[in-house]
Amino acid sequence: MDVTKLNKVIEGKTKIIYENPDDPKTVFMVFKDDITAGDGVKHDVIEGKALVDWKTNRDIYEYLNRRGIDTHYISSPEEKVSIVKRLDRKINLEVVTRRVAAGSILNWGDVEEGQRFDPVITQFYYKDDPLHDPMLDDGFIDYLITSGKAPEYAQMRESNARVFNVLEKTFAQFKVQLIDFKLEYGIIDGIVMVIDEITAGSFRLWPYKTEHPNLNQANILNELDSAGRLDKDIYRKGGELKDVKSKFEVIAQITSKFKEL
Ligand code: TMP
Ligand code: ASP
Repeated sequence: MDVTKLNKVIEGKTKIIYENPDDPKTVFMVFKDDITAGDGVKHDVIEGKALVDWKTNRDIYEYLNRRGIDTHYISSPEEKVSIVKRLDRKINLEVVTRRVAAGSILNWGDVEEGQRFDPVITQFYYKDDPLHDPMLDDGFIDYLITSGKAPEYAQMRESNARVFNVLEKTFAQFKVQLIDFKLEYGIIDGIVMVIDEITAGSFRLWPYKTEHPNLNQANILNELDSAGRLDKDIYRKGGELKDVKSKFEVIAQITSKFKEL
């Protein structure tokens, strides 16, 4: 079936969602070769990126589903195409969990790159490109939870930490450290579920520098090969597109082994 002939529900920067004519409870998610950064300001097309992202996304979601995590993911019937549950309500947030200080948290001062957080830190960003995804105040989130106005925030906080711990241990088996990641959530049949893609742009992944790094330190920068990072930071920092693609392929090779675990 040519899914691109179906009715489009929505087109995003890196994916297109199409209606499933055979099942109103599901939609087709089709990956694009486009890559963006800086809230869409930087934009390129990398031939073959959709296929690599589709593989990474499939392997991570199939693993999470096997681990009993509530996600929107159902299956990946053909290359670049996945079937996911249709949302009743999208929650307009990026929920970021950090084990190691990198990226935007370094802008806030008093934290050095490589600082290890234990327990992990979880932050909620309101998704809005023109506003540059502002971070929500933790006190406001506590209010939303305790007032009963939005109990789903407590579930998202808990889910993010749980998924992070699962994936961190899994990547560790391949000698790479999950530095941080971003998940998104929606409500399906009254349940808060992990939605959207989980690909090389959704996390930071730094290889270990040695076979047995000492990760029980306040700062683990020296234990990790941050210059050998595998994730989308290479693109964000202006790296060559062929290097971006080859690192994404390394991630897909790692996640392809998740099915054996
Ligand atoms: P940050 O350090 O730039 O705030 O990013 C935290 C994590 O979230 C990192 O793993 C990359 C991911 N991320 C996204 O998935 N989408 C985004 O738009 C941004 C800014 C970050
Ligand atoms: N997701 C954001 C964008 O598409 C930026 C990022 O991942 O850094 O612009």
